[in-house]
Amino acid sequence: MRLEEIRTAEAAFHMPTYGRQPVALVRGEGCRLWDTGGREYLDFVSGIAVMSVGHSHPKVVGAISEQAAALTHVSNLYYTEPQVRLAARLHGLLGWGKTFFANSGAEANECAIKLARRWGGGEPRIEVVSALGSFHGRTIATLAATGQPAKHAAFAPLPPEFRHVPYGDLRALDSAVGEHTSAVLLEVVQGEGGVVPAPPEYLRAARRLCDERGALLIFDEVQTGLGRTGRWFAFEHAGVTPDIVTLAKALGGGLPISACIARDDVAAAFRPGDHATTFGGGPVVCFAACAVLDVIESEHLVENAREMGERLVAALRARACPGVVEVRGLGLLIGVELAGDWAAAIVEAAREDGLLVNSPTPSVLRLAPPLVVSAAEIDRAAGLLADLIERRGEEES
Ligand SMILES: Cc1ncc(COP(=O)(O)O)c(C=O)c1O
Repeated sequence: MRLEEIRTAEAAFHMPTYGRQPVALVRGEGCRLWDTGGREYLDFVSGIAVMSVGHSHPKVVGAISEQAAALTHVSNLYYTEPQVRLAARLHGLLGWGKTFFANSGAEANECAIKLARRWGGGEPRIEVVSALGSFHGRTIATLAATGQPAKHAAFAPLPPEFRHVPYGDLRALDSAVGEHTSAVLLEVVQGEGGVVPAPPEYLRAARRLCDERGALLIFDEVQTGLGRTGRWFAFEHAGVTPDIVTLAKALGGGLPISACIARDDVAAAFRPGDHATTFGGGPVVCFAACAVLDVIESEHLVENAREMGERLVAALRARACPGVVEVRGLGLLIGVELAGDWAAAIVEAAREDGLLVNSPTPSVLRLAPPLVVSAAEIDRAAGLLADLIERRGEEES
């Protein structure tokens, strides 16, 4: 189908939930994508931090085909080896924890919220404290946890047991966490909120507060986990260990899988029947995820994320112009704060020049290329973006 036919069919047959870019993509390889017209793009979105090992990595494609041919799906009424192998791999990476597999980031957080309630024993420990500017998903509970009132408005009333405090404000957290709190739920870097890293001392203080008050600390690493920030887990930067961590985007190499991993004694609060999913932890996606972790390890992608992230930040800062307020982030999750609400215009201009980036907020560009990105690709993207921002900055001044 041609782009126009696809757009017409989408308008006719798909719910109008997405504000899409006018591009239909058909093929990917490494950091590159091609559209229906055969046009090539350098992908600095990567499915929003999903395609860490790059598009169509042969090891992941091989794993998917091999497992699909052997066994595609069985109910969680039965054991499968890929599921336990993946759970053991995650335990090995963290050094602790038991996993529940789901299919999306929201579901992993939903699991974490339910587990925290179960662990807290119900009333009065039923509240979740999360941060303003956060994003935790779009189910009713994870939307309630999401600290963005504009996203709540159309769906009110949401469950009331969710409280929001300014991100990074320790005093506010101190007054919000009490005997009603089952968990504090935080992103180590707010991705959808505009790529805002938490101060490490804030995360350490949150740990102390949770310990003092008997609440669990949950880190939502759906976007930051598995190497994206230059460490396997973003919380390692702050030297803080949560009681529960949730993962999703990068885990399946493009297939839908998420994980809620809890300290053993916390995980033990769940009983058979408390939580379940039909598709979560299926053999194909778990086998693919094991291949993804193998690739991250064997190709040293955590180190590459660190090095290429530093290179990208340095290149953008070196070209700093009045149009740029700040370049921030960790590893290959980078935000460029612009001097005005021009992010959508820069996204469009970059796309026309063959570079895909996105804008989580009107004034912020998010750069999250695959972790396999090369120095040449970093330099090309940085040069192109700096030119576009400089030009826009001059037009505005
Ligand atoms: C930090 C964080 N948590 C949760 C989610 C929700 O994940 P999903 O869209 O897979 O439900 C996202 C998605 O962007 C996210 O960035």
